Order: sequence, then C-alpha cells, then structure tokens
Amino acid sequence: MAELLKVAMPKGRIYKKASKLFREAGLPTPDDFDDSRKLIIPVPEAGMEFIMAKPVDVPTYVEYGAADIGIVGKDVLMEENRDVYELLDLGIARCRMSIIGAKDWQPVMNPKVATKYPNVASQYFREMGQQVQVIKLNGSIELAPLIGLADRIVDMVETGQTIRENGLLELEEMFPITSRLIANRVSYRLKNDAIQRLCDQLQPVISQGG
Ligand code: PRP
Repeated sequence: MAELLKVAMPKGRIYKKASKLFREAGLPTPDDFDDSRKLIIPVPEAGMEFIMAKPVDVPTYVEYGAADIGIVGKDVLMEENRDVYELLDLGIARCRMSIIGAKDWQPVMNPKVATKYPNVASQYFREMGQQVQVIKLNGSIELAPLIGLADRIVDMVETGQTIRENGLLELEEMFPITSRLIANRVSYRLKNDAIQRLCDQLQPVISQGG
C-alpha cells in the first residue's frame, strides 16, 4: 500500500489555488472548507492527509516532521528561514514583495519601515547599504504610512487594489513571489517514492507564467 503523505496546507487564499492545482494533477482533493473548522482532513483517494495550518506556520510543521510536505508562499519561506527542502515552484498565488510609500513620500534619514516580514526587510536594506528602522506588524500594513507609524512599508502586492484604494505608491519591486512545495528532510528520504510521484504529477500542470 502507498505511504500516507501528511501535507501542511495553508488555510485561506493559497489553499483554494493549491487544491485546484492538485485536482488538475489528477489528485482528488476537497475544494472548500469555508464552513468547516476541521483541521485534519483525510484525503485517502490521493494517499494524503491535509493539515490545515496558518500559512506562516507551514514551514515549522514541515521542519519538525509533523508534516512530510507543505505548501507555502516564498515570502513566508524567506522570512521563516526553516531547514526544509524546497522541491517545486508551483507557480500559484503569484504576486510580488514591494517597497511602498505614501504618494508624497520624501527620502528621510533612517526611515521607519513597517512590515510583516522583518527578517526579509532587514536583510534587503542591509544588502542595499541603507539604514532603516524595521517595525513588525501583523496585518493591514498599508495603514502604517497613512497614519504616521512608518515612512514606508514592505508588503505583498497582488492586484494592486489595496495600494490604489489607499492612495499609496509602489516604489520598488523587491522579489517576485509564488507558492512552493517544501519537504521535511527525513521524509524526503523515507517517503521518496510517494513525494517523487506527487512532484511528477504536479509538474505538467504547473503554469510558468500565470
Ligand atoms: C495582503 C497584502 C496586501 C494585499 C495585497 O494582505 O498584505 O495588503 O493582500 O493584495 P492586492 O494587491 O491584491 O490588493 P491580506 O489580505 O493577506 O491581509 P493583511 O493586510 O491582514 O495582511
């Protein structure tokens, strides 16, 4: 019998795109949990069990082996810097991490930068040789430059709607972002057949551009 793969799935918007990709790859997965609070979802037809995790926690479940594999945005992967294998760029949830400011922003000495990604932002500005003060927030980051908490923000831009509706300006694109398939290092060896089979099934349905 094929080995059961424990898959850490990010709850929310990436999940919908990931489950659609799995179905396109011929893996029958449940598509909607809007009305469910269930956190462990058996998917026996696909030889998997989904662990419905908060996106930021997916690399943690995978690093510790509580999940064999996981799906996570590259943004979270860069920020969390966990010891996991990155197996595939799934090409879904495509967006970008950008530096954003108010329309009337001015260059200032040692600007305050608000973000959900303090590690990524600190490293980026350090490598650019720019001194900044990073302020960690957990959401609604676009508020920060509007109410004087920060001079700039580092945040995700997908459609651009949030920055447009709040009168902000995308000053610089830092990184393109997509979701990735990651694996626990031990699981990758012990369950290699099952993981490899999953990669082989996913590969042909991964879109490179859109
Ligand atoms: C994300 C991100 C931006 C927005 C970008 O926030 O932090 O705010 O989406 O998307 P857009 O370019 O299509 O408008 P999210 O909705 O995850 O909520 P948050 O503000 O609580 O982080």
